[in-house]
Amino acid sequence: MVMLADQRSETKSKAQLADRIRELKQQQHAIILAHLYQRPEIQEIADYVGDSLGLSQQAAAADAGVIVFCGVHFMAESASILSPGKIVILPEPNAGCTMADMVDADELRARKQELGGIPVVCYVNSSAAVKAESDICCTSRNAVQIVDSLPEQRVLFVPDRNLGHWVGTQTSKEVITWDGFCNTHDSITQAEIDRVHALHPAALVMVHPECRPEVTARADRVLSTSGMLRFAKESPATEFIVGTEQGIMYQLTKDNPGKQFYLPSPAKQYCANMKKVTLPKLAWALEHLQPRVTVPDEIRRRAVRSLERMLEVSSRRI
Ligand code: 13P
Ligand code: SF4
Repeated sequence: MVMLADQRSETKSKAQLADRIRELKQQQHAIILAHLYQRPEIQEIADYVGDSLGLSQQAAAADAGVIVFCGVHFMAESASILSPGKIVILPEPNAGCTMADMVDADELRARKQELGGIPVVCYVNSSAAVKAESDICCTSRNAVQIVDSLPEQRVLFVPDRNLGHWVGTQTSKEVITWDGFCNTHDSITQAEIDRVHALHPAALVMVHPECRPEVTARADRVLSTSGMLRFAKESPATEFIVGTEQGIMYQLTKDNPGKQFYLPSPAKQYCANMKKVTLPKLAWALEHLQPRVTVPDEIRRRAVRSLERMLEVSSRRI
């Protein structure tokens, strides 16, 4: 009984906070963007929920003066690079990305020199300083299209070795990889997928390209987060094994009430940084218009070229 009373009061305070956030959003002329790995209550209140590419496109096109980014630091930084005149807020300033921290601008400059200046394709999961050293950015959704758009035959791909490897299997180019990885994805094993598949043999396996090569090679589909949402909706299949962060289950189950989704290793499929944004932090951030994310102008001017080139290539029909 006590438990039920606690749950009721928690639901009530969540609803009150959500009302307050809606009110503040209007007062501050703000737009709330949220990644698909965010907590359900954050996805619920956002104006737009999507993958990294969709979020960058929304940030570039937003006409609101304030962008509140419910995601991790590199995402808010990209919004600030693309919209320098706007106030960009990250409700939890310590929400980083462990993969983005695996490459820095000095190391990248040294490696580029070693390789004789071949073009650098940089996954958006990277700092502004690394984007500034790169020729073009990509996300998991457009990585193959971006690499194919370059005239050169060899490219250096940073920082994700798994995404870089997977792109290499989809293109005729030589893709030289960096040694970065995302632990949330890299720790999903083929054996774990096989075990769940044995229990649900009709299920299709869809995995994110940040997974290990043996996992992407075994999957029916290798997709970005928004690609998984589209595929699950359009496919006649009714069961799916999901190889990405568990936050995506909220939209997958909401969009597909008659279908079943299984996580092969739920405890590992969790990005602690993505879960740092909460309703109280979001309300505080909107009220105070803090903490802000800004990028020094000298870095921004070079980084914006890589992001804008990506958006331009991505907007082409393929
Ligand atoms: P998406 O580009 O598919 O949204 O992935 C972003 C990410 O951080 C995956 O870990
Ligand atoms: Fe970074 Fe991995 Fe979290 Fe995505 S899931 S934000 S790549 S740490």
